[in-house]
Amino acid sequence: MKQEIGKKRIIIAIDGPAASGKSTTARRLARQLGYTYIDTGAMYRSVTLKALQKGVLEDVRRSPESVSALLDDITISFDGDLVFLDGRDVTAEIRDNRVSREVSFISSLKPVRERLREMQQELGRQRAVVMDGRDIGTVVFPDAELKIFLVAEPRERAKRRYAELLAKGGELPDIDLLEDEIKERDRADAEREHAPLKKHPEAVEIDTSELTIERQVEMVYNLALEIEKGSR
Ligand code: DC
Repeated sequence: MKQEIGKKRIIIAIDGPAASGKSTTARRLARQLGYTYIDTGAMYRSVTLKALQKGVLEDVRRSPESVSALLDDITISFDGDLVFLDGRDVTAEIRDNRVSREVSFISSLKPVRERLREMQQELGRQRAVVMDGRDIGTVVFPDAELKIFLVAEPRERAKRRYAELLAKGGELPDIDLLEDEIKERDRADAEREHAPLKKHPEAVEIDTSELTIERQVEMVYNLALEIEKGSR
C-alpha cells in the first residue's frame, strides 16, 4: 500500500507482556497503513538461538559479558514475515520451546540490549514502522508519535497461547502451567535491571482481554490516522 502524499509518516510503538496481542495487532496495523512491521521479540529470540547453536549459553550464564562475542558479526533481517539470522531463515526455529525458555535471560543482558536497540533505531530511521516489544515506547523510540501499551488478564493470555499450540498440532501443555509460565515471564521482563517492561506515561493502554482482534486493530488504526492527519 502506498503512502498518500502529504500524510505524516510516524513511528508506532506497541509494548506489552507476552501474548497480550501485540504481534497480531502490529502486523495487521502495518498492513492496513502500508507501514513496515518489526518484531523486536524475534530479534531477541535470534540472539538466543545463536547462543544455543554455538553452545555458549552456559558460558554466558557464568560470565555474562562474554555474550558480546556473539554480537560482533551478527546480522538479523526481515523479509515480510520471515526472519533471517546471519543470512539463514530462522522463522520457525526461533519459536522453539528451548528458545522461549532462555530468551528472558539473554534479553536481560546489557550488551544485547544496547546492540539491538541500535539496530532497531536504524530500522526506524525512515519512520513508517510499527514496532512491537517490551521497551519500544520507553527506550528505543521514546519520541514515537503513537505509543500503545497492550495488556490482558493472564488467564486470557494462557488461553490464546493454548489456541495457538492447538492450531499448530503439537503437544498440548496444561493450561494452568501455561498461565504460570506467562506470569513468570512477565515477572522476569518487568523486574530486570535494563529496559524493564513498563508503560510510558504517554502510552495509550488498551486491555484486550474482552476485545476481538478486529476491534483492537481498529482502535489503534483510528489513533494512528488522527496522528497522521495531525488532529491528535
Ligand atoms: O514477544 P516475544 O515473546 O517474542 O519476546 C521474546 C522475549 O524477548 C520476551 O520474553 C522479552 C524479550 N524482549 C525484550 O526484552 N524486549 C523487546 N523489545 C522485545 C522482546
